[in-house]
Parts: sequence; C-alpha cells; structure tokens
Amino acid sequence: MIVSTAVACALAAVVTAYTDIRHKQFMVKNIDPIVYPGQYRSHMHSFFGSDAVTKDLPTTADLQKGCASGENPNDLSVYWIPTLYYVRGPTDFVEVNPGMFSTYYENIDKAEIPYPQDFFAITGNATARSQSDVNEGTTGLTWWCENGPEDRQNRNRALMPRVTCSGNIQVILRFPDCVQTSNIKNYAYTAANGGRCPSGMKRIPQLRFSVRYNVRSLLPKGWSGTPPLKLACGEVGEGYCFHGDFINGWFDDAQKNLLKATSRNQWMRVDGAKGEGKAGTTCGPKDREPAKGTSDYLTSVDMMKMH
Ligand SMILES: *[C@@H]1O[C@H](CO)[C@@H](O)[C@H](O)[C@H]1NC(C)=O
Repeated sequence: MIVSTAVACALAAVVTAYTDIRHKQFMVKNIDPIVYPGQYRSHMHSFFGSDAVTKDLPTTADLQKGCASGENPNDLSVYWIPTLYYVRGPTDFVEVNPGMFSTYYENIDKAEIPYPQDFFAITGNATARSQSDVNEGTTGLTWWCENGPEDRQNRNRALMPRVTCSGNIQVILRFPDCVQTSNIKNYAYTAANGGRCPSGMKRIPQLRFSVRYNVRSLLPKGWSGTPPLKLACGEVGEGYCFHGDFINGWFDDAQKNLLKATSRNQWMRVDGAKGEGKAGTTCGPKDREPAKGTSDYLTSVDMMKMH
C-alpha cells in the first residue's frame, strides 16, 4: 500500500489528468501533408488515425469525413511517424509495423483551451544525427527496452537500444503544449519556457506518442551493438531523427469532454456523440489513394532523389 502510494505520487509529479487512445497503422506512404503538401517526395511515414489524409494538407472538417483507425470514434485526428525498417541486407528493407501505437493526452488539468480547429504540429527533428540535435528537455525523445535488460543511462538516450530487448522496443515523444490562437502555426513548449506558455499563447493538452515495436520474430537472434533497424529518416541503429506529426480531427463535443479531465492524477475516458472513448473502430480504415505515391522503401528513396 505504501509502495503503490509512492509510485502514484511519483507519476503524479510528472503527469496529471490524462487519457490515452490506441491506434492501428492503416497506411505507409512517402507523403507528408504538412512538410511537402501536394507532393510524393517525403521519406516513408506510417499513418494512424483518420484515413481521410492524402498528400494534401487536410482541415479538421476533412479529417472528420474519414474513418479512424483508433479506438475512440470521436477522435478523427491523424498522426504519423517515420517508418521503421529491419535492414535484412544492403538493399533489403523489411517494414516493422508498430505492435502498439498510443497517443496520450497529458496535463489536461493545466490546459486553458481545446485544440483549435485545423491545428497541426510537428515535434522532434527529422534531420537530427546526434544527441545534441535532439531536445529531450522539451520533446522527451528517448528509446529503450520496455522490459530491459539494457540501461539507456549508459548511452545517448535517443539512440536505439544496444543489446537485444527482452520485450518491445519503445520510443516516446512529446508535442507542443502552447499555441497562439490568432496564428495557430505558432506553437511552443512550456518545458522550454519555465513551465509556462510564452505570453500571447494559450495552454493546450500535451500530446505524447508512445510506440512499441516487437522485433523478436524479425530478429530471433537479437543484436549486440548497433541494431539492424533503420528509421526512414535516419541511419542504421540511430533513433535521433524520430519525429511526429499531428493534425487535429477531434469533434468539438468530445474535446469539451477531454477538458473535463481536470481531477489531477487521473486517467479519464473521453466519450462523445460518436460513441464511448474505447468503443473501437468498425469502419475499416484504408489508404484512399492506393495507386498514388509508394509504400516501398527503395522506391521512396528514388523518388526523393528526383527532387
Ligand atoms: C536538427 O538537426 C540538425 C542536424 O541535421 C541541426 O543542425 C539542428 O540544429 C537541429 N535542430 C534543432 C532545433 O535542434
């Protein structure tokens, strides 16, 4: 009893009033509607959430016309990350589908406003090549073995684990938690501003990605040193370039419920007119334009060279 109270207090010190939603991957494609709208020239990304996303930057209303791959039918947001590959040979890249992709919405009790209509954000540094290019203080980016045995304190924390994980490989990444309502492209992190939003900005719930990769069947013998794993944006064994993108697709009634998670330290299910927050998906999310762009790693590299 004493122990569990201590653990609860320790957690409460970091995160208060939160919810989480699990999503299935529904598409892998060489698009990035925020960075390269209208084009097929990005490194490969894995997509989760509303399947209304294409190469063109969608609005919140556009996303709400899609089918969500997540368990909350009130959240039609779209989320994406660089695709992870097992490098089986010099030209042989095997896609690793994350066994679990969860979006946590944290510090809701501190939020002043819900996500504005059409709000989108990018976090992380897609060109990072070293720990000094990564801002762990604001984004929290770190990789580790979910159940050990490795100790991330003995290496750069944004590198991938250096020995075989006994369970999943996990990575986390936090999003901005402040936005200027008169110019929603201007956003910031309280962690970079002494725990407050810069003046002129409002505080929003903080989104955090938690991704778990199960590579045991792909790598039955494990690894020692650099793992034969590569993000579409980076070099083999490096996790520095891991980044995340989010476009708000929440229905407003559910966002009002989200902001009711104000009792500190507590998880809350976020329901809405579309159903219970853990109802699950039944609509069958899919790539809306399967003939466009590519889902093949080497083809995506060729298409990037054309620019
Ligand atoms: C992102 O990484 C690049 C290295 O490619 C580095 O020059 C840049 O400073 C990094 N950006 C930030 C915000 O740390």
